[in-house]
Amino acid sequence: MQTIVERHPGLTPPDRRAELLREPGFGKVFTDHMAMAWWRDGEWTAPRITPRRPLALDPAAAVLHYAQEIFEGMKAYRTEEGEVLLFRPEVNAKRFARSAERMAMPQVPEALFSAAVEALIRTDRDWIPSGEGSLYLRPFMIATEAFLGVRPATEYLFCVLACPVGAYFKGGAKPVTVWASTTFTRAAAGGTGAAKCGGNYAGSLIAQAEAIRHGCDQVVFLDAAEHRWIEELGGMNVFFLVDGTLITPPLTGTILEGVTRSSLLTLAREEGLKVEERPYDFETLKADAASGRLTEAFACGTAAVVAAIGEVRHAAGAFAIAGGVEGPVTSTLRRRLTDIQRGQAPDPHGWTRR
Ligand code: COI
Repeated sequence: MQTIVERHPGLTPPDRRAELLREPGFGKVFTDHMAMAWWRDGEWTAPRITPRRPLALDPAAAVLHYAQEIFEGMKAYRTEEGEVLLFRPEVNAKRFARSAERMAMPQVPEALFSAAVEALIRTDRDWIPSGEGSLYLRPFMIATEAFLGVRPATEYLFCVLACPVGAYFKGGAKPVTVWASTTFTRAAAGGTGAAKCGGNYAGSLIAQAEAIRHGCDQVVFLDAAEHRWIEELGGMNVFFLVDGTLITPPLTGTILEGVTRSSLLTLAREEGLKVEERPYDFETLKADAASGRLTEAFACGTAAVVAAIGEVRHAAGAFAIAGGVEGPVTSTLRRRLTDIQRGQAPDPHGWTRR
């Protein structure tokens, strides 16, 4: 696909870039360019790489009023040989399409999605950290039509940003502490829980703030109907190892179909683990932690990768998981995944794209 490239007239100087790449954290440092395509009169313009700059939006743009917005999160890695690998980009493109459908937005064809992401990576290639870091790509789409009636907009912007990132959690690889919220829920049957839309995250922020007030890194949401079944964390999926079986909540439409989640399910089966996608309730989690049947738990997502859960706090108390230290299954799965992502292990599933 033809992509127009408008280079930034004042690129970040190499020494400043090197300084920013030393400890980028997550989501704070951005590259010099962005990709954009516009949906007008029922079709997409060709993707365009432009200097990263503020957007000019009409204050009546539908996204500002009715939150017609979706996004994706994906990463590019620099291998030891200096190649650049994207991890399962077509899975992100397909999920973006499903999110668009749910939010009554136009489809971004996979060819346009890939062309925009790849052209941005090529243009800002010098921003990809080596070693442990990666370049986080944030494709998103917003409704730009200036119209206050409530209906799907007729004009949209598809945009991709790139940020060099390190660890998502401040403590790096240290096990995280999670807060089980019984006050707030994230999604109900028939809602938008499976779509990667900004509204889901906006609705989670008060619960995430509650988690932080209780000294936790992330909130764990229970289901909306019974406040009983574990669903997902504020921004990632969750797994539990019980009696040697790896359990993760099923995709019933209220949780996000994580790319990391699905990759770990495959890798876990290859490791010979029994894997179950099934409901797991909070009372059973407490009992399994107390009896020792629960030996590991971890959160996973593109941003978080795989993060061991060391402690669970809730309104009536707190309990540790496996003494608060990362277990061997968590470590093995993380290593297997990141070795493939970084081109340090064979890729039998063809997950990486050069
Ligand atoms: C991702 O993992 O890519 C997400 O979008 C989640 C968010 C917590 C950064």
